[in-house]
Amino acid sequence: MQAVVLVGGEGTRLRPLTYGTPKPMVPLFGVPFLERTLSRLREAGVAEVILAAGYLPKAIEDHLGDGSRLGLRITYVVEDEPLGTAGAIKNVAEHIRGPFFVLNGDILTSLDLRAMLALHNRKRGLGVLHLIRVEDPSAFGCVVHDEQGRISRFVEKPPKGQEPCDEVNAGTYLLEPSILDAIPAGQKVSIERDTFPKLLADGAALYAYTTADYWLDVGRPEQYQQAHRDVLDGHLALGRLADATAGSGQFWSAGDAGIPKGVRAPAYIGDGVEIDPSALVGPYAIVGDGTKIGPRARVRDTVLWDHVIIESDSHIEGAILASGVRVGSGAHIATGTVIGHDAIIESSARIPADARITAGEPAQT
Ligand code: GTP
Repeated sequence: MQAVVLVGGEGTRLRPLTYGTPKPMVPLFGVPFLERTLSRLREAGVAEVILAAGYLPKAIEDHLGDGSRLGLRITYVVEDEPLGTAGAIKNVAEHIRGPFFVLNGDILTSLDLRAMLALHNRKRGLGVLHLIRVEDPSAFGCVVHDEQGRISRFVEKPPKGQEPCDEVNAGTYLLEPSILDAIPAGQKVSIERDTFPKLLADGAALYAYTTADYWLDVGRPEQYQQAHRDVLDGHLALGRLADATAGSGQFWSAGDAGIPKGVRAPAYIGDGVEIDPSALVGPYAIVGDGTKIGPRARVRDTVLWDHVIIESDSHIEGAILASGVRVGSGAHIATGTVIGHDAIIESSARIPADARITAGEPAQT
């Protein structure tokens, strides 16, 4: 079985994190997001993955190589210009040999891909689309289908209050190779807006697979943080999270050192972390490998990537700090702030809520 994973987007909504790291390589508990997706594909019986890349592809290839470490064969196809979600699939056509999965590269889900394949084998249509139910479909693409699951209509981002249904496109498809004939080559084409509606107009049989799985698009900072909270709260099981339960509540630790004093559950502590005993870390703290947190610092509901330095008496709440960030002593960082790689926050600085900080540039709010 083959899968195409779409990883060519610039990830503008996750900036400044995605200036230095392409969205698929953004870590989730110390492991790049895409690596977790690929492990899930492998477990579902997929042997070959085609990565439709474009933005910072070298960072992806340097980490994943030929895929053998994950038990997969990975082929990279890099777009010179973004071709859109369908154009990217057309661009890998020469590698497709049979029915194939397509995954948006930024979806975190517990979807059972084998069950999706079984449904496709029963329905024998042109494809199956994973749908989930959401409270507010206006931000998504609504998909209308009959009782047998046959899709009749796509309504992209319907106006609030006029949504035709609460089931939305969840960004995982299982498609027959003949779908490639419906996508023009060498141009920007969207599968949601162009290809699927055109196929329906031509009478093609596309089927819905609606599930109640965990599902989150991690393409925005709030969702990226939510993904961490959800895993810490046990709403989604992730592989490779060593369970080092210490004291009460849930702690995870990647190293052997256990959980330092002053860490409050739930929390994840990476390898080689140094936390001063007088610091207060957590609840909901993710501390990446090699990160140091100084005396009396307070860090809660925050994601720290690798090798971050938090000096004494600084307060951080509800923020995301990329690798190599240094926060000077006594600085305060407010909720919703995202700080890019290697940025330096001066001692005693007051960073307002929802700030975006890139190394060497003025802060933006
Ligand atoms: P934003 O810039 O924040 O909207 O993120 P994005 O560029 O990743 O776009 P979006 O979240 O809508 O993309 C959904 C998925 O499709 C992501 O996994 C993207 O990497 C991927 N994607 C979007 N556009 C392209 C494209 O032109 N080519 C390829 N290969 N992948 C794409």
